[in-house]
Amino acid sequence: MKDKIEGLLAKVKEAAPNSAEEIEKFRIEFLGRKGLLKDLAAEFKAVPNEQKREIGQLLNRLKTDVQEKIETLKSAVSSGPAADASGEDMTRPHGQELPGARHPISIVRSEILDIFSRIGFTVAEGPEIEDDWHVFSGLNFPPEHPARDMQDTFFVEGDDRLLRTHTSSVQVREMEKKDPPFRIVMPGRVFRNEAVSARSHCAFHQIEGLYIDKDVSFADLKQTLLYFAQEFFGKAKIRLRPSYFPFTEPSAEMDVYWGLETETDYRITKGTGWLEVLGCGMVDPNVLKASGIDPEVYSGFAFGMGIERITMLRYQIGDLRMFFENDMRFLSQFTSVS
Ligand code: PHE
Repeated sequence: MKDKIEGLLAKVKEAAPNSAEEIEKFRIEFLGRKGLLKDLAAEFKAVPNEQKREIGQLLNRLKTDVQEKIETLKSAVSSGPAADASGEDMTRPHGQELPGARHPISIVRSEILDIFSRIGFTVAEGPEIEDDWHVFSGLNFPPEHPARDMQDTFFVEGDDRLLRTHTSSVQVREMEKKDPPFRIVMPGRVFRNEAVSARSHCAFHQIEGLYIDKDVSFADLKQTLLYFAQEFFGKAKIRLRPSYFPFTEPSAEMDVYWGLETETDYRITKGTGWLEVLGCGMVDPNVLKASGIDPEVYSGFAFGMGIERITMLRYQIGDLRMFFENDMRFLSQFTSVS
């Protein structure tokens, strides 16, 4: 019996239950109603009198050892790492902290808005789901204009609820709401029923600009755009090519002189050195009239640019689809840009 007790003392010393459940099992094994100590107490009765003292002391030691072990184990478990219901340690530091980052489209969007805010433009926004008036009719699109065609426009319901195809709709909304003067930039998402490719997408972003006051001239438009090109691209040379939009007259497209110094310059400017950046023009008198502004008193200019396009030029991104894929290998390249 002495050997048996000594064996158990060693076992208690080594035992290492490490959860509340295992400690309880350990307790039941030794101290339970049918536990080892009960068995030993029964055996003890048969121990010859001359050994009772020695064996009795061993038995007491076993009991106190077991109790002490349970106490220390229990306090170790409860003062250990904080655990939630799942047993997961909620205080453990996790391996990889990925810094948050802004999307390149957001970076360029706020940079452009910031450039215009420095010369007094404020920001206005309008709805993405529009009606024919704000996207087309109020902007002097004749009824049969091809841009209204099913191929370009996503209609939501009937032919008077549609996704805006450009942010020029916000011009109309603002002119209806307020009186001149206007100095506003209008960022937003636009939608066109186009096949998705490296150069176009069915959903993209534009920034629209509108300046209306007394005596606004084409020279004001040109100076404002030159300022923008210098601030954003750091390039001092622009050119305005005649173009056509139903809502501006005259209309133009602005190119920025990019240069022809490297292979990439050749590729992105198609060998001309010039980059097409935005559409613009003097607000057509019909557009002013349609929104209740007297074209005899007021004149103004408007411009509109695609943010994706400008972002691709800025960061030399070759495929527009990358903006929409949310691939971390692409997005994490912009983490250091504020
Ligand atoms: N709305 C035109 C487009 O989407 C851009 C534009 C805006 C042109 C304002 C002239 C004036 O292409």
